[in-house]
Amino acid sequence: MTVEAEFKPGLEDVPAAKSAVSFLDGKKARLEYRGIPVEVLAQQSNYEETAWLLIKGDLPTQKQLAEFDHDLRQRRAVHYRLKDLIRCMPADGHPMDALHASVAALGLFYPCPNVADPARNWDASMRLIAAMPTLVAAFARTRRGDEILDPRPDLDHAANFLYMLGGKEPTPAARKVFDACLVLHAEHQMNASTFTARVAGSALANPYQVIASAIGTLSGPLHGGANEEALEQFEGIGGPQNVKGWLDAKRAADPKYKVMGLGHRVYKVKDGRATVLQEIAEHMFAETARPKTYETALELERVAAGIYGPKGIYPNVDFYSGVVYQSLGIPTDVFTPIFAIARVAGWLAHWHEQLVNNRIYRPDQISVGKNDVPYVPLEQRP
Ligand SMILES: CC(C)(COP(=O)(O)OP(=O)(O)OC[C@H]1O[C@@H](n2cnc3c(N)ncnc32)[C@H](O)[C@@H]1OP(=O)(O)O)[C@@H](O)C(=O)NCCC(=O)NCCS
Repeated sequence: MTVEAEFKPGLEDVPAAKSAVSFLDGKKARLEYRGIPVEVLAQQSNYEETAWLLIKGDLPTQKQLAEFDHDLRQRRAVHYRLKDLIRCMPADGHPMDALHASVAALGLFYPCPNVADPARNWDASMRLIAAMPTLVAAFARTRRGDEILDPRPDLDHAANFLYMLGGKEPTPAARKVFDACLVLHAEHQMNASTFTARVAGSALANPYQVIASAIGTLSGPLHGGANEEALEQFEGIGGPQNVKGWLDAKRAADPKYKVMGLGHRVYKVKDGRATVLQEIAEHMFAETARPKTYETALELERVAAGIYGPKGIYPNVDFYSGVVYQSLGIPTDVFTPIFAIARVAGWLAHWHEQLVNNRIYRPDQISVGKNDVPYVPLEQRP
């Protein structure tokens, strides 16, 4: 029987698995994928290599990476009926809901019902990594009446997505920025969506259902959805000069008001990924005027540090990512699907790990309801 003293709301500090996929030290803002600092990977690696590293556990050889890259390119295209399905989705629906539904549907077209076969599991993993960008771009285009574009096998993972979304081959600089963003979002230890993936995986659900479940969790504004809300917040503030008045008014109306893009269960200092994203933003805006949203974000970080810093609440990864995506011309409601197309590598790494020595998750609860309640027939109820 679970005792009250053992109960931790939100399972704070409760280990949910033994994992070698990533390491996180929230006091030092240190995040490592399989032992390699994420900042190093963002600068020197690319998404394809990082995905292999996360799932397989070690950096690939040149031959392994070339084959993996080739296999991913082969799996980017999706069945024409899946594209028809996406065309039938409501144009005003949220792209995360569209992604959730289309990833589950991907499993109908390319099934992997038996997770006991490692070769099929690997094949499904590659298909998910390769095809999710196609699904996101397809919905983003078709809802505004644009033709769905076929993937370009001559472009790498990051460049192909930007092409499929915007219809133009990105500049090398935009490709590199977007690739670094994918690497930075690829994995983050035992967060809510990763835990969801492990729980679904522990029931031996198929990989498409595992990833669809994780996408559902990521869609929440306390998790992946915060990047959209953070950008909308900067736009709503309207400029750096309004930051202090805006925050004072919000806090006066609700002392517990949550500023989007700030705070983290694990980090008690500024999230290292936010620092890298800010450096990327600085680099991007070095030769152009800084957008008002970025100036607002900088001022909000400064003002918020004085108020929330003593509580260990600082910018998380979602604080600056939206500003960067916006400057790449990406629509706001596609930010969280982009988080998903990056994080799928981490989810899959945890899924593969979960299947080794798997035991289904079945936690306990503290029952606080009634017992032995008599059933009153409907006609006798007042
Ligand atoms: C990320 C988050 C969900 C973590 O939640 P958590 O670990 O459960 O932390 P709590 O919500 O219990 O917050 C702890 C304290 O910090 C405060 N706090 C946390 N995040 C805050 C924020 N963004 N703005 C203002 N105060 C915040 C809470 O009000 C609470 O204060 P209290 O101790 O006086 O009651 C939370 O910080 C949040 O909602 N942030 C905004 C959404 C966001 O950016 N999410 C992306 C995460 S990568």
